[in-house]
Amino acid sequence: MIQHLSKRASGSKRSAIRELLKLTERPEIISFGGGLPAPETFPHEEMAAIAGDVIRENPQNVLQYGSTEGSRTLRKLMSEWLRPQGIDVGIDQLLVTTASQQGLDLLCKAFIDPGDVIFCGLPSYLGAIQSFRLFESRMVGVELEDDGMNLDILEQRIREERAAGHPLKAVYVIPDFQNPSGISMSLEKRKRLLEIARREDLLIFEDNPYGQLRFAGEPIPSILSLDDEGAGRVMMLFTFSKVLCAGLRLALLVADGEMMDALVRVKQPSDLCTSKLTQHMAARYIQQYGLDDHLAEIRKIYRVKRDAMVEALERYMPKNEGISWTNPDGGLFLWVRLPESLDTEAMFPQALEHQVAYVVGSAFYVDGRGQNAMRLSYSLVSTEDIDEGIRRLSDLVREELGSISKSGSAA
Ligand SMILES: Cc1ncc(COP(=O)(O)O)c(C=O)c1O
Repeated sequence: MIQHLSKRASGSKRSAIRELLKLTERPEIISFGGGLPAPETFPHEEMAAIAGDVIRENPQNVLQYGSTEGSRTLRKLMSEWLRPQGIDVGIDQLLVTTASQQGLDLLCKAFIDPGDVIFCGLPSYLGAIQSFRLFESRMVGVELEDDGMNLDILEQRIREERAAGHPLKAVYVIPDFQNPSGISMSLEKRKRLLEIARREDLLIFEDNPYGQLRFAGEPIPSILSLDDEGAGRVMMLFTFSKVLCAGLRLALLVADGEMMDALVRVKQPSDLCTSKLTQHMAARYIQQYGLDDHLAEIRKIYRVKRDAMVEALERYMPKNEGISWTNPDGGLFLWVRLPESLDTEAMFPQALEHQVAYVVGSAFYVDGRGQNAMRLSYSLVSTEDIDEGIRRLSDLVREELGSISKSGSAA
């Protein structure tokens, strides 16, 4: 029966990292692989009470289908919450999606034809890469610098792609504490990216799950909030997964006018509507508690973990000019670069022997590079285990460096 697969499904692959991460589920392994939010950040008691309340109060409503656009109450609350952040949108510019992964899927359904070029960071979020691949886009990677995408290279790639006759469509960017690198894009670059997008008539898909998880430094305005063109060029995704509970499967997609209309049209055949129950739970949580106090608590948790990881890296990693790591002011991830001679995928079985795990860098590179890098998430691991895990990882790196220099001298 396999001959009946669509071209799309037969061309799609299971995520290599999810397969690798299955190997890390053994309890003795300290895994920095999973990019999930820390479960201690979930307000579970409050949510349990709210679930009971909203169902008992109005079961005919919350257990029913809802509108494709999403709950008006939730959208109104969120439009009020977004306004002080410079995102001045009414409820008609907010679409509730089944978390931001569906938002990415809808952006592709509404705007991407096979062969359309999407520029994305090297490295970039794997789930977005999977969506862009499924919709047969042409993904063109652009190297990241410490302050975000290298825009000179973006301009160069735009020229090359145009010269080759490829249709240019969008830039995908995770401006704050990017997954997987933890890098944020500077204000100057956000403004320049907008100028480039206007000049070249590109859409910007701004995916921002981590901006609210800033535990140090000053917030940088979102690209959407800087866009004064009024053309709806920037579409932004804001998920509840990292700020409330990932299991609610809720996000907002911010878009304007005709763009929104197209997104609603492609969402309808996808799922008719996002779960009304979880939308009502999120809305009630915001009404009862607000998001800000909760966010302040979450940020403290991640800050302690980030500190523990950076301190452990400084303490244990071999001193070698080819080894560096990012030190993000927020989010869940840190990106480690090793000397070019090391390959984190080839090292992975030894990492499991050392009872430590990470995500291999190449998983996040649309051009297959990134072999000497790895993503570490501090989110799910206790500070004690972060220390021990980084010690194990550093031992592994030391051994690998030793075996490379031995085989180098023997050659
Ligand atoms: C950059 C980015 N976008 C989107 C998602 C998907 O999140 P969700 O579907 O839970 O909103 C993630 C999850 O880790 C992410 O890191």
